Amino acid sequence: MPGGAELRIESIEGIPLYNGDVETAEGVPKRAAELKKAIAEAAGLILATPEYNNSLPGVLKNAIDWLSRPTSDIKAVFGGKPVAVMGASQGGFGTILSQSAWLPVLRTLGTRPWFGGRLLVSRAHTVFDEHGKISDEAIKKQLEQFLHGFVEFVEA
Ligand SMILES: Cc1cc2nc3c(=O)[nH]c(=O)nc-3n(C[C@H](O)[C@H](O)[C@H](O)COP(=O)(O)O)c2cc1C
Repeated sequence: MPGGAELRIESIEGIPLYNGDVETAEGVPKRAAELKKAIAEAAGLILATPEYNNSLPGVLKNAIDWLSRPTSDIKAVFGGKPVAVMGASQGGFGTILSQSAWLPVLRTLGTRPWFGGRLLVSRAHTVFDEHGKISDEAIKKQLEQFLHGFVEFVEA
């Protein structure tokens, strides 16, 4: 991360399917509540998205849907939050359609999306080594520039 900015990586692992009856009976699941808190405390959010069938993945949308409950918390979690979207996919367009599909969601949640850069990693299976590290120098550079631009936006 540039300029001493700290990156905290979180996962949607452990978030159940949204169910309004469960919400009424038990409230927001523990893992969703943890993520809500992490996002509320963060200066910015980077949404790393795959692309499923030329759109956003239902599993990630489901997680965001839980994080938007109850509605009265949306402002504290997402309101005015600087958000960048990046993605990697095995196809040739690097999640471009998925990233666009996220826009109405980011708008509805009242975030402050960053449009100053894009990171579209296509043919993602050729970009990482066997340890999951980026082995493609051009992509590494694009990622650095992307993070630099977003951190500047968050700190502005
Ligand atoms: C249901 C499904 C739909 C997919 N649709 C696309 C697609 O539209 N475009 C694309 O480039 N890759 C597509 N892929 C391939 C994904 O890029 C690849 O599976 C990637 O690893 C998904 O990330 P994930 O493992 O974090 O889910 C699809 C994969 C799945 C499972």
